[in-house]
Amino acid sequence: MPNPIDAVASGRTDAFAAAKINLFLHVGDKRADGFHALESLVVFADVGDALTFAASDALKLKIDGPFGSGLAAEGDNLVLRAARALAAHVGCKAAAAITLTKNLPVASGIGGGSADAAAALRGLNELWGLGLSGDALRAIAETLGSDVPVCVDSASAWMEGRGERVTPADGVAGAALVLVNPGVAVPTGPVFAGLKTRRGVGTVPHDVPMGDAEALVAFLKGTSNDLQAPALVIAPVIGEVLGELSRMPGAILWRMSGSGATCFALFEDDGAAQMAAIALARSHAGWWVKAGTIIS
Ligand code: C5P
Repeated sequence: MPNPIDAVASGRTDAFAAAKINLFLHVGDKRADGFHALESLVVFADVGDALTFAASDALKLKIDGPFGSGLAAEGDNLVLRAARALAAHVGCKAAAAITLTKNLPVASGIGGGSADAAAALRGLNELWGLGLSGDALRAIAETLGSDVPVCVDSASAWMEGRGERVTPADGVAGAALVLVNPGVAVPTGPVFAGLKTRRGVGTVPHDVPMGDAEALVAFLKGTSNDLQAPALVIAPVIGEVLGELSRMPGAILWRMSGSGATCFALFEDDGAAQMAAIALARSHAGWWVKAGTIIS
């Protein structure tokens, strides 16, 4: 990726919007602002959307890619909202020609829209030569959605509060995984509204040895995604996805991410993940299946 000076000089830059995976997600009480308190260990994969930014006299967004037709490039699109919020913060004109190649399924629990918005903040910070810090970008990100702050760095992190408290969690990089989405868009609000039981926040230690796959998986087995049960009511096919992932040779942990419907499985090694992805794509032609690696 070019540095900010290169971006300003060349008038263009790009950014990768990595898929976000909640290795676990515990939900606490509903707060006075209507959002729930959360506790989650979040990682990012080498699978994601791609954005480009070029100098322009107006704000324009072009969307393409396999899931591009599911999104409108207008009005409340999170990328455009991010651009406007950043421009308003520094008092400059929101002008850029942005392209978004949408490789991730929409409304699917792996933060596609949030990662796109965060990538827009990073990319435009470069294109416009603003030099804003990560903290400043995260403060703007918070106004765009609960998952956007953690996507600003797109690095493994503990996520707390409504999502705005992000603390680095080093060392999970390199783990092999498979992501599966059964093609059902699940909106976040109704999943939270369907919560019946929840684990609560502040119940797990944060001094997990991330680099030790066995210890990490042992820790994760004592956690859950509290949103999985209400998401299963809205999209029962999630149960089928989890069942299939659990039967794949070499799978060591399988779970839903975010508010669904995308599920992930961690694998013993890259080979097992690749084999599982091939088998699942072959047996379920309508499912989106991707093997990948945790990037940081
Ligand atoms: O912040 P975001 O736009 O992603 O949230 C979408 C919806 O998810 C919210 O309107 C709310 O219903 C629910 N939510 C919540 N608690 C959170 C995050 C999201 O209840 N911490």
